[in-house]
Amino acid sequence: MKNKWTAGIFLGALLIIIGIIGLFMRSGEFPVNVGNGNEDVVDTDTGRKLPVPALLEDQNPNEGISEFEISVQEGETEFIPGQTTPTLGYNGSYLGPVIKVSRGDEVRMHVRNELSDETSVHWHGLEVEGTADGGPHQVIPEKDIWEPVFSIDQPAATLWFHPHVIGTTAIQVYYGLAGLFIVEDENSKSLNLPDEYGVNDIPLIIQDRSFTEDGSFLYYDNMMDGAYGDYIMVNGAITPYLDVDQLKMRFRIVNGANARNFDLRLSDRSEFQQIASDGGLLESPVVSDSLFITPGERAEIIVDFSDYEEGDVLELISDGELVMTFRVGEEAEDVTEIPEKLAEIERMDPDLVSGFKSIELDGMGHMVTLNGRQFDMDRIDDDVAEGELEIWEISTFRSMMMGSAGHPFHIHGTQFQVLSRNGEEPYQNEKGWKDTIFVQAGETVRILVRFRFKGLFMYHCHILEHEEAGMMGQLEVY
Ligand code: C2O
Ligand code: CU
Ligand code: CU
Repeated sequence: MKNKWTAGIFLGALLIIIGIIGLFMRSGEFPVNVGNGNEDVVDTDTGRKLPVPALLEDQNPNEGISEFEISVQEGETEFIPGQTTPTLGYNGSYLGPVIKVSRGDEVRMHVRNELSDETSVHWHGLEVEGTADGGPHQVIPEKDIWEPVFSIDQPAATLWFHPHVIGTTAIQVYYGLAGLFIVEDENSKSLNLPDEYGVNDIPLIIQDRSFTEDGSFLYYDNMMDGAYGDYIMVNGAITPYLDVDQLKMRFRIVNGANARNFDLRLSDRSEFQQIASDGGLLESPVVSDSLFITPGERAEIIVDFSDYEEGDVLELISDGELVMTFRVGEEAEDVTEIPEKLAEIERMDPDLVSGFKSIELDGMGHMVTLNGRQFDMDRIDDDVAEGELEIWEISTFRSMMMGSAGHPFHIHGTQFQVLSRNGEEPYQNEKGWKDTIFVQAGETVRILVRFRFKGLFMYHCHILEHEEAGMMGQLEVY
């Protein structure tokens, strides 16, 4: 009886999905190619040197005040030799510069939208007031400027920024709008970790993209778990290489893909150390030979190349696919070290919890809901008092019935702690600060959430196609 019931729901869901395939191909203002996902026009052997995004110059000479100019613009990028791809970028043609600030800084942003379409710039992972968050309520009209001012008051971390406009987020990110936002603090500066940007401290923004024959991007929403690309890119280059000396290298990894999860490993299966999660350094390094990272999440890892010899080649792979290559060079003196203790993380106390929210992420493709509803800009779904500690329980039971793999759940304006995963201890590398947490289909994850700033904040699945299809809610912190 029970089996029949399950099979019935599954069959029904399947029929509905089949029924809608092909009906919902979306496109924004930007010219978008929608294909069937079977094109194969790029020679994957185009590995070039890993581009390292520039640090954005602070325009303000005063210590303690940082002032940045960002222009959101259209451009052309050469991903495939000899072909140009129309793209979007911050202060450039694809992706953006790296913003680096310190805890305690006052930050003044000058964001100019040079696009012929509206955009917004959301600081993913930053704890600031709702009006500075850059979500769908802070839209920057075309040719307009947005100038939020905020203070940095959170631990050292690798955060990022990207658009967040209703209906065009997925496309704008796919075409190139994403950048890194690094926070430092007293603690991170006092440690002897690799932290020379561009030398032994390198960002890896991992994405996937498809191309048409003329070299332009092909955006293909596969109707299941979002838009996948045929080629893996790092910092805007298809499966690039990086020359490294025989020493410890720190990589700030961002899963900047619209929808794809990466399960990163080194080709020789050697171990590396994860030192940070989304919102900052872990208490102590976590040693592993793999890193599973879902859209929106960040992880900092340290790979020690001192065990290799000149000429060794090491690949970073994900599920058997090449992500990038490391070419080992000379021996080098390494003065950096990874301490046993990286940071003090005050555990939030479940006994002090005074509220509970339950978040049910349902569905797949464009048939997705959050607590049974689709996002409505004019509806505030929930609220909480500033400083109040809550448990949020995120579950994906019905997603499993619909064949989804799971959802990376993200909350704006806060860093939370994972209390439990399916009633058990969270994974070792999710015991630090998080702002995005993967909830595999059928799982239940409990997190401890507290907002330190007032305003309207989004929470959603970070598969951008799910977010746009309505798997998002908003809450008011009063
Ligand atoms: Cu990185 Cu609302 O997202
Ligand atoms: Cu965010
Ligand atoms: Cu999702």
